[in-house]
Amino acid sequence: MTVQNDFGLIGLGVMGQNLVLNIEGRGFSVSVFNRTDAVTREFVAAHPGKRLLGAATLDEFIQSLSRPRKVMLMLKAGAAVDALIEQLLPRLEAGDIVIDGGNSLYTDTERRDARLTAHGLRFIGAGVSGGEEGARKGPSIMPGGPASAWDLMRPIFEAIAARVDGQPCVIHIGPGGAGHYVKTVHNGIEYGDMQLICEAYAMLRAAGFSTDEMADIFEGWNEGELQSYLILITAKALRQRDPETGEPVVDLILDKAGQKGTGQWTLVNAAENAVVVSTINAAVEARVLSSMKAARLAASMRLQGPTPALDSHRAELAERLHDALYAAKIVSYTQGLDLMRTMSEKQGWALDLGGIASIWRGGCIIRARFLGRITDAYRADPELPNLMRAPFFEGVLNRSQQA
Ligand code: 6PG
Repeated sequence: MTVQNDFGLIGLGVMGQNLVLNIEGRGFSVSVFNRTDAVTREFVAAHPGKRLLGAATLDEFIQSLSRPRKVMLMLKAGAAVDALIEQLLPRLEAGDIVIDGGNSLYTDTERRDARLTAHGLRFIGAGVSGGEEGARKGPSIMPGGPASAWDLMRPIFEAIAARVDGQPCVIHIGPGGAGHYVKTVHNGIEYGDMQLICEAYAMLRAAGFSTDEMADIFEGWNEGELQSYLILITAKALRQRDPETGEPVVDLILDKAGQKGTGQWTLVNAAENAVVVSTINAAVEARVLSSMKAARLAASMRLQGPTPALDSHRAELAERLHDALYAAKIVSYTQGLDLMRTMSEKQGWALDLGGIASIWRGGCIIRARFLGRITDAYRADPELPNLMRAPFFEGVLNRSQQA
């Protein structure tokens, strides 16, 4: 008897492997394929007793799937996705569904959507957030594409997504490239959050706080309105000591960051639409500057930086930083939401901003208590023109101005 698996996944990188285990663990049978066959064989052998089929060829993979086929690609964004789609086109049949779960540029997704649709296929461009752990235990998923494909994929997506208050962290985002677009803005916001944390750290450091004291402060912040995954892992990172020297690990890590592109895409799109995303802009620019390590080092031999003059009492400084960080976070999210609203109107996507905030409450990198507040604000007023104008956020911002 031929195998008729529920789902197929191509690309057994770390995200792909973890998604497969998550999907299989939720009761679905899964076929997998990887360009390097040894990876497929090792993966399947490492997970005996599971409903997995490792296909050695693309033909075997396609034949092992029940119709309409559901094939997910977990590949590096860019040329690899196009190449694989070209290989799939002659092998798939009308009605089959291809899902791109990578961080693709939304205009690429729109182009691929048109190509697959012309062949009678259905394409879902899905943002998947949460890193390795999220992929395994429950990511936040942002799928875009035709409603008929969403209807068929919904049971799988809802089964594998993170849950908050019993609700799965996935909704149908909109047609075409809407899902990948929203994931891009999610990442832009993620860049902004990390930059705000870095700036708070830099001020605490300039004021003479030790890394352990800073870890205490971030842990404290994680108990309140700033509670979030990124604040939590910042506290943990600050607590880490190098086993060899006993020094805090943050003091030993090279202050040089790379970027894969989603932050820049957010910035370019905002500029094209005349939307201000100043926090994301600052974050992208800080990464660019950080990457110029040699130039910064050379300049530091000749140019003197300012002497920090942080005159507040230490406890008061930490409190004011908390309020400033919270207010800046509200401004940054307001900007990201404004950008999504602008693009939604331009593209006719009908994005549900409250729904998007609600699926970011769990699973994804920017998951935070704060997103529940945003969800509530849009539930109270779905037409809210600007997040800062929601009564709760107006109150926080007005209280935080001095900070
Ligand atoms: C996620 C993350 C993940 C990654 C981004 C940003 O949602 O799980 O956003 O996709 O962090 O690709 O990567 P860079 O910071 O390296 O650009």
